[in-house]
Amino acid sequence: MIEVLHDPASAAAWCGRARASGESIGFVPTMGALHAGHLALVRAALAENDRACVSVFVNPLQFNEKRDFERYPRDLEGDAAALDETGCSMVFTGTLEQFFPDDVGPPGGFRPQSLRDPGPRALGLEGDLRPGHFAGVATIVQRLFEVVRPYQAYFGQKDFQQTLVVEDLARAMGYPRIRVCPTVRESSGLAMSSRNQLLSPEERERATLLSRSLEAARAAWRSASREARGLTQAMHRVIDGTPRNGIPVEIEYATVRDPSAWTPEEPSGTLERGVALVAARVAAVRLIDNMLLHEG
Ligand code: PAJ
Repeated sequence: MIEVLHDPASAAAWCGRARASGESIGFVPTMGALHAGHLALVRAALAENDRACVSVFVNPLQFNEKRDFERYPRDLEGDAAALDETGCSMVFTGTLEQFFPDDVGPPGGFRPQSLRDPGPRALGLEGDLRPGHFAGVATIVQRLFEVVRPYQAYFGQKDFQQTLVVEDLARAMGYPRIRVCPTVRESSGLAMSSRNQLLSPEERERATLLSRSLEAARAAWRSASREARGLTQAMHRVIDGTPRNGIPVEIEYATVRDPSAWTPEEPSGTLERGVALVAARVAAVRLIDNMLLHEG
């Protein structure tokens, strides 16, 4: 039976006991409303460690829009049941005050000087469009690592830039080993996301324009296109050619980067390795997706 803990101190004690009995912990940080993408990370953690442990915390520090934070789906009971079935040993949650007892000021505000600098790979794309987002992510992920002290931690490629920020954080902390797992998709190609719950069936269908634009970049790459501009144009052709059928779609970016040499701006000229990235609001719900273009 899964252990459900409601504060980080109990979680730290549980993890300490597991480590003391020689068990390795694979850790999956989440914001809950778990879907098959999250559970794939848990399965990977179980395959490579003695115990899998998950955190569920809708972290207010990383939301730059109050409305997005407020309507983010929450279902701890459902999450715990799904995790139990997957074989996860422990799930924990907590409040902002419990995670950061020294950093939350009297009116419930978080001291800005307590935020962690997320480093240079937080610049550009998500970092530009969601000011403060990666500082909020780096701050909570550091604290979660300190609570769990995992051997390995699992992240989805779905949030590509987040994996770069977390890799830099883990390098600076000296642990854990970061494992990045492939994006799990619906049969339509739509990347699974907790925010998909906020879309109607028609809006979900429209949202496949993100993955279809990425597929177009990959098809262009496979036919030997290596110019950043040409790859981006292939994405925009799909985006522009998709009828909206009355559903508002607002593209925030559709672009490419060299994943091994992150640059805030789109690189000019040809790429040796590539990742295509897209962000859009479909019926006011903000969705992101990406796809590696090179093989291996
Ligand atoms: P959340 O969006 O809940 O995602 C938790 C983890 O699941 C992340 O590593 C994310 O990349 C991964 N994930 C989400 N959708 C996925 C999919 N379709 N396929 C594979 N993996 C997927 O990312 C966060 O939470 C937060 O920023 C967090 C790291 C927990 C810090 O608050």
